Amino acid sequence: MCGIVGYIGDKNASDVLIKGLKRLEYRGYDSAGLALINGHLDIVKGKGKVLNLEKQVNSQKLTGKIGIGHTRWATHGEPNDVNSHPHLSQSGKIAVVHNGIIENYGALKKKLIEQGRTFHSETDTEIIAQLIEEIYENGSTHEFEKALQFALKQIVGTYGIAVVNSDEPDKIYVAKKGSPLLLGIGENEMFIASDASPIVEYTKKVIYLEDGEMAVVTKGNYEVKTIDDVTLTKEIHELALSLDAIEKAGYPHFMLKEIFEQPNSVADCLRGRLRLDNHTIQLGGLVDVMDQLVNAKRLVIAACGTSWHSGLVGEYLFEYLAKMPVEVEYASEFRYRDPLIGEGDVLLVISQSGETADTLAAMREAKAKGALVLGVCNVVGSTIARETDAGVYTHAGPEIGVASTKAFTAQVVVLTMIAIAVGQQRGTLDDAYAAKLIEELNRLPGKIKQILEQNESIKEMAKLFTYAPNFLYLGRTFNFPVALEGALKLKEISYIHAEGYPAAEMKHGPIALIDAMMPVVVVAATDHTNDKMISNIEEVKARKGRIIAVTNEENTEVKELSEFFISIPSTEDCLSPLLTVIPLQLLSYYIAVNRGCHVDQPRNLAKSVTVE
Ligand code: AGP
Ligand code: GLU
Repeated sequence: MCGIVGYIGDKNASDVLIKGLKRLEYRGYDSAGLALINGHLDIVKGKGKVLNLEKQVNSQKLTGKIGIGHTRWATHGEPNDVNSHPHLSQSGKIAVVHNGIIENYGALKKKLIEQGRTFHSETDTEIIAQLIEEIYENGSTHEFEKALQFALKQIVGTYGIAVVNSDEPDKIYVAKKGSPLLLGIGENEMFIASDASPIVEYTKKVIYLEDGEMAVVTKGNYEVKTIDDVTLTKEIHELALSLDAIEKAGYPHFMLKEIFEQPNSVADCLRGRLRLDNHTIQLGGLVDVMDQLVNAKRLVIAACGTSWHSGLVGEYLFEYLAKMPVEVEYASEFRYRDPLIGEGDVLLVISQSGETADTLAAMREAKAKGALVLGVCNVVGSTIARETDAGVYTHAGPEIGVASTKAFTAQVVVLTMIAIAVGQQRGTLDDAYAAKLIEELNRLPGKIKQILEQNESIKEMAKLFTYAPNFLYLGRTFNFPVALEGALKLKEISYIHAEGYPAAEMKHGPIALIDAMMPVVVVAATDHTNDKMISNIEEVKARKGRIIAVTNEENTEVKELSEFFISIPSTEDCLSPLLTVIPLQLLSYYIAVNRGCHVDQPRNLAKSVTVE
């Protein structure tokens, strides 16, 4: 998700805001905007780079000592001018910038429309401005601060918000729940930001707001309280990090930051979609096409790279849960084969960037042949997302590291949810097992967090394999695609040759490669094939291969056979890829760092391959 900034002091606010938004640009953005108070509200906003915003602001020669700004990473509504932030209330007096997702915005919007409010954007954010004003004007209080508190109590989801009200030109209101927000304390000036990067050049003194907290910020002062109006005394922290380190939230690389973001990104992907009360899945983006998907003759999945690997996991999931025949295709091969696809078929394309040329071409080819085309993308409003007939966003947030990590797990989460929903509607998935899967999905962010706690031991293990000339990754069924993904991660950031294979396939050739120099990563967390995997491990050991096993905590047989092992919490076999991939991401990361490779921007690679 993107970021917000705010300023109140003696400087020209727009200079501080623009500079701050540029500092937040690394978080990904598709549009930007700001609001300045000059007795009235000046709003400048639009699609595109912060540079475009800067030009617009400069051309209008805007002044003002107080304002708020936003770089948007769209989750609801295309990246365009009208959906960019700030969003205004009906009167135009209240402006809001928001970082996060409002889960219940649909219900709130419906109610506000019934109360006579008109909306201009497709975003969830706009309801915040309208809801505050509805309470402020017609509700139980005419105190703005109370109106804000009442509004926030009705909101379900995540937010980091900054709010200005032209009736109170000397204040900025902020509130935090689920998205980060800091206050910077200057000399007779105050700063607000989603992270410290816009603040650190002005002051090192910051306050971190916690969930459920808000603040009223004036030129030389601030008051922090809960949204239940309990005043708080907050610790003032001294920033010790460099600007570069702050942009990476203290991590040495974006890739490591994104690996560690996965408990949150998986939770964001699930948010508002898992119904724990009646054990169903809600995917708003597929409502209009669900019947066609459920009754499809077959499902073809096309993608590239890591997205192709998540597609392979999808094949196992759809066939297992929805008993639906699936073919997974490299988009680049599919598009040039005059593919046999048409009416009654469904093509599902998967793309983090939503701009990959081969995937886009495959989608256009299938669409031209009459198939229904669906998309699983991370970037809202990307070309693929816009051209598919329907789809589901992964909500993983901007992925800056070239090697895909959190996008992969988010893709697998989405595919799992679609497969469960389709299985339920096709009657191939019984209610009890569907309930079990939905409850377990809800527990996965915590289980991913548990695995990440082994970070240091994996870092130590990586030292032993930093100079291995080759790696072999083996997996079975749901974890065969994870073996491929682990091999790709290692290849693309450490430049060590690595191959992923179905474990049983090793005997048909690759076993000739096994010797004491060959680390063999065995993804052995699929209970129903465990005995077979044990045989494969024995075969590798007999040839002095060095076994690194990723396995369930209680899998003592595999642990005893392995020279090294990384334990993961047990889960349903079909959900295990979401856990087994995490240690492989960390292992490849640390080996690449030990080899002095440019982890975030590996040689020869680009984040989005928009060429063929
Ligand atoms: C994965 O780590 C690579 N960066 C690459 O294989 C990537 O998955 C592939 O280029 C597809 O990109 P997309 O998901 O944006 O379409
Ligand atoms: N959900 C809001 C939107 O789509 C905010 C997204 C963000 O965090 O930038 O506009």
